[in-house]
Amino acid sequence: MNVLVVGGAGYIGSHCTRQIIAAGHHPVVLDNLSSGHREAVAIGTPFYHGDLGDQALVRQVLRREKIDIVMHFAAFIEVAESVAMPIRYYKNNVVKTLALLETMMEEDVRKFIFSSTAAVYGMPETMPITEGVKKAPINPYGQTKLDCENILSALAVAHGLGFAVFRYFNACGAATDGAIGEDHAPETHLIPNVIRSALGLAPVIKVFGTDYPTPDGTCLRDYIHVDDLSRAHIAAFDRIGTPGTQLHFNLGTGHPHSVMEIIGAVEKLSSKKVPVEFAPRRAGDPPELCADATCARTALGWKPLFTSIESIIETAWRWHSAHPSGYATR
Ligand code: UFG
Repeated sequence: MNVLVVGGAGYIGSHCTRQIIAAGHHPVVLDNLSSGHREAVAIGTPFYHGDLGDQALVRQVLRREKIDIVMHFAAFIEVAESVAMPIRYYKNNVVKTLALLETMMEEDVRKFIFSSTAAVYGMPETMPITEGVKKAPINPYGQTKLDCENILSALAVAHGLGFAVFRYFNACGAATDGAIGEDHAPETHLIPNVIRSALGLAPVIKVFGTDYPTPDGTCLRDYIHVDDLSRAHIAAFDRIGTPGTQLHFNLGTGHPHSVMEIIGAVEKLSSKKVPVEFAPRRAGDPPELCADATCARTALGWKPLFTSIESIIETAWRWHSAHPSGYATR
């Protein structure tokens, strides 16, 4: 398969690109490098520097590279930023996705894999979360992803688009060979921030909220290795060929960990004490998010290969230790 990876220079897109190659397919990357990194794109992969909303460019790439499947990772992902700047989020995450999909329909490319999020569920009352529960996003970020999911369903009905939507829980970790990893600016995610504190690259890790209704009072999240996420996408390639196919999958391990457990795991792995500061709750954080990923397991034959949080953190630790300033380019 010739696979266009939109956002393939970003964190999840770059890991997915390498897994596509490992599975014997041919990735092509389109990225505007607004937050991605050119060095993160696997050597030898055709790279187009441009925007997913640029319909002339996307048309040219679809034709020239004879694209069979499009995967879309090029979204803005910060919840707090989406609350402060909703127009920016709706423009990038919805309007530009619509432009990409329109070009695909015009060029008769009708297989699509979409990077969605647990944020589409909002604050569900039952755990673990199954795909069928009510979608009630509590911030513009989650809403933009849900809007895209709904657009995909309409296109499946109207134009025979076949798609798989993956709702990620907490993506983390880095490539096992240490070649690529996580580099956001600013970094807001827990695991990289705890590691940075352990390495002395940040003065302290702030723990946002200690009064949640959880065993140790800190939030519980379902951390899933980025390569495990990526493998699920590839397993869906041959499931979306029938026109009108609509697939939705949660991706998580089903084993949540608290913020304090993550800090403890990093301390154990690094043999370093992580300086902690207890801070108020961060707006919009649900107490617990845990995936029921039975659908992905049964329909795709997928299962996470990284089954312990220690094994996941170890890969992230290796990347951050070797790249204390992240990638060379910003
Ligand atoms: N946290 C801290 N200190 C930090 C960073 C995070 O205590 O420095 C806490 C957060 O409050 C939260 C947990 O660690 O309780 C995990 O936070 P992350 O920022 O790593 O991840 P989120 O769960 O907030 O975000 C993930 C995805 C988002 C998605 C969201 C849905 O990364 O894309 O889940 O709720 F929108």
